[in-house]
Amino acid sequence: MQEKIDLLKIPNHIAIIMDGNGRWAKSRGASRIFGHKNAITAVRETTEGCAELGVKFLTLYAFSTENWNRPKSEVDGLMSLLVSTITKEIPTLMKNNVRLQPIGNISHLPEEAQKKLKEGVQETSNNDGMTLMLALNYSGRQEICDGVKALISDINKKQISLEDISESLISQYLYTKNIPDPELMIRTSGEMRVSNFLLWQMAYTEFYFTDILWPDFRKSNLHEAIVSYQARERRFGKTSEQLLK
Ligand code: IPE
Ligand code: IPE
Ligand code: MG
Repeated sequence: MQEKIDLLKIPNHIAIIMDGNGRWAKSRGASRIFGHKNAITAVRETTEGCAELGVKFLTLYAFSTENWNRPKSEVDGLMSLLVSTITKEIPTLMKNNVRLQPIGNISHLPEEAQKKLKEGVQETSNNDGMTLMLALNYSGRQEICDGVKALISDINKKQISLEDISESLISQYLYTKNIPDPELMIRTSGEMRVSNFLLWQMAYTEFYFTDILWPDFRKSNLHEAIVSYQARERRFGKTSEQLLK
């Protein structure tokens, strides 16, 4: 599959909704957290696969604001997995020249998770190959609310005026400031919804859905998604004939 990839048309930014850990575990008669633990290999393979191909930004949806509504034992398990994984995965990030950047309402994560994230960001801050954005306690609507608040505050302080408001200015008030919109979004496990992920940024993103459960996702699946993306015609409102000119 990899040989079918056009290296001149690699997406700059890939976003992934990593879904299906619970079902993967259930089918093995195991606990949901067993599924989350087994998802780390998929995260590592995907990060490495993207870095190898020259993808510049990879955003992984790891924990949504809505996920706080899960049973406490699962939430606690996910948070401690986050803490242990960041430390363990730093060598992989260094080897692949990847910089870590969390997005979401990070200040509401447990102290220990915030501390590890800070360390991870610090240790990888000089890597300039790819940026791995880990979406944690992330909500697309909350991101827009936060942006609106900051923007109105800047208007009140007369730092910007009403006339300055444009699509590109609004983008500057989001967590993904200065990061290009994703060209490709992948969601595993067969669910076909956006689940409050990058709502503003995905206005023209190509969606790729696969039935593979996230813990089974490997580089070959990533390559398949990229091949599918490359076969699409991105029309941005134009006609096919206009694009061929
Ligand atoms: C995705 O897998 C991981 C998180 C949302 C943290 P799920 O835990 O949602 O797995 P399913 O959807 O229940 O199978
Ligand atoms: C979305 O998955 C969030 C993450 C992958 C972190 P969910 O499994 O929580 O999504 P819904 O609630 O089924 O849409
Ligand atoms: Mg799910």
